Parts: sequence; C-alpha cells; structure tokens
Amino acid sequence: MRILITGADGQLGRDLQLVLKGHTLIRAVWPEFDLLNTDVEKQVLAPRPDAVFHLAAYTDVDGAEREPSKAMAVNAEGTERVARAVDKAGARLIYLSTDYVFDGRKASPYVETDEPNPLNAYGRSKLEGERRALACCPSTLVVRSAWLYGVHGKNFVNTITRLASEQSALRVVADQRGCPTYAGDLAMALARMLDTDLRGVVHATGAGDCTWYEFACAIVSLMGSRVPVYPITTAEAGRAALRPSYSVLANVTLAKAGITLSHWKEALTRYMSEQKKVEAATESA
Ligand SMILES: NC(=O)c1ccc[n+]([C@@H]2O[C@H](COP(=O)([O-])OP(=O)(O)OC[C@H]3O[C@@H](n4cnc5c(N)ncnc54)[C@H](OP(=O)(O)O)[C@@H]3O)[C@@H](O)[C@H]2O)c1
Repeated sequence: MRILITGADGQLGRDLQLVLKGHTLIRAVWPEFDLLNTDVEKQVLAPRPDAVFHLAAYTDVDGAEREPSKAMAVNAEGTERVARAVDKAGARLIYLSTDYVFDGRKASPYVETDEPNPLNAYGRSKLEGERRALACCPSTLVVRSAWLYGVHGKNFVNTITRLASEQSALRVVADQRGCPTYAGDLAMALARMLDTDLRGVVHATGAGDCTWYEFACAIVSLMGSRVPVYPITTAEAGRAALRPSYSVLANVTLAKAGITLSHWKEALTRYMSEQKKVEAATESA
C-alpha cells in the first residue's frame, strides 16, 4: 500500500513509520507540508495514497487557549483540506483525535457513542476536525487516544524522568484520571486497523486508568528513584487550559475487532526497561 503520514516527524508519526513495514511511506512534514496552506489538497493527492494517517496537529493544549483561532485553523480547517483530498483520491483516512473531546462529567469509561463536550480550545478544535473529516470523507476512521508518550517528543514520562533527577520533590496533579498510552503500542494498533473495514469513531488507549499522580509514582518507582512525589489539585497546578477530571476511554469497538492495547503499567514497564537498555548501550559505546 501507498501510505501517507501527516505529522510523520511527530511523537506518534515516528513510531508509526517503524511498524508500517512492507508499505511505501510518504512523509508529509511541516514546514513543506503546512495544514494552514491551501496547497495541502494537492500535496495529499499528488502521491496517490491508498491510505492517509492524519496525525499532524496543533497539540499544545495550553497554547491553544492563547491562540484558539490558530488551533482551529490547523486542527479543523487543515483536517478538512486533508479529508477532501483523501475522499477525491478514493483512499482511507485515519484521523487521530483525543480524550479531551469529553468534559469528564461521566463516572464510567466513555464509549464511542457518548456525546462529546470539550472543555478547552484544543478539544474543540480536534472535535471540529473529527466532524469535518467524517463529513468530507465518509470512510474516515477517527481514532481517539490519550496521554501519549514514547521515545520521541515532549511527553509526561520524559518530563517526569528528567525532573526526578533534577529536583528534590515532585508535585503532580491527582484529580485528573485518564489512560496513559504508549505510542509504540498505539502505532501497532493503528497498523492493524488498516486490515479492518472500521469506519466512524473508535477509542484506542492503553488499558486500565490512573491519575497523573499515580502515573508519576509508577515512573519514579520504575526509575529506582527515591524522590518523593506529592499529590496536588488541578487548581494548584494553575494550567491555562481546563482539562476533564475523568477522561477514561473504553475501547469497545476495537475490542470487537480483536485489537487490544496492553495495560498502561505493563506498557510503561516495557518502555522504561527499553529506555534503560538504550541508555546503557549509549554509555558503553
Ligand atoms: N500527545 C497526546 O497525548 C495525544 C493524545 C491524544 C491524541 N493525540 C493526537 O495524536 C496526534 C499525534 O500526536 P503527537 O503526540 O505525535 O503530536 P506531535 O508530536 O505534536 O506531532 C504533531 C506534528 O504535527 C506537526 N504540525 C504542527 N502544526 C502543523 C501544521 N500547521 N502543518 C503541518 N504539520 C504541523 C508538528 O510539527 P512541529 O513539531 O514542527 O510543530 C508535529 O510534527 C495528534 O493529532 C494529536 O492531536 C495526541
């Protein structure tokens, strides 16, 4: 298959390239590929893709509060450009979205049919992206994931790992609950979705759930560090964007298709152990 990946240089894009072996990959990367540019349609059509993973996005959740129009232009208008082109190409569109489309008022895991109601500008822009993708390209598969981390990019695991070796104590939010998801596992699940005829919306997160505080405690413990981790509230953290206090997703549709992701603790243990091996190999080289 000829597969185009937008945001191929991003955190998930880099892991996705590693698992799509045996396919011809076309990398659409900023600034040559800019979702704000009207050339996007031509750039998606020209390489005649059979499938497009649309990962490129404005992903700075707090930044989106300061520049909501830009977030909307990239995540909604940019996605519409991609979707129109994919539809014209007769290809499949797989669009990555987020748990932040939900408001967190539910007390049990969100299923695909639950009504979204985003609390922040990023969530609103991604939800609008979902709606435009499905409207312009009816065969679209929207994949909502959450709390992503991997080797590449700025993410919670890499930040906690760094802070645990720099600071004498950590203070982490304990009143937001979600599903940590290892980008390598999500990439494998995305590759498997190509072999299905899934369309519409699916949830794809690591199994199980925790708070950011519990997540940080697990990271610090796997590091073998003794740095204390203290729970704080969202209000104490003082971030610009509101976040849902509960954004646990249930991967109902994916499970029916036989696609599962590991429990977040198992994935984190695997990830941290791989990282230790890479560090040891780098040090001895
Ligand atoms: N990270 C998470 O926790 C999370 C959770 C749920 C869903 N998602 C979704 O999953 C997808 C991948 O996330 P990720 O963590 O891999 O994000 P990422 O590392 O921030 O990658 C996004 C990519 O999009 C590029 N980009 C930004 N603005 C662009 C524009 N105007 N035109 C073209 N490309 C642009 C970025 O380039 P630069 O780096 O040069 O800016 C980056 O390479 C995104 O759609 C995101 O919304 C992420």
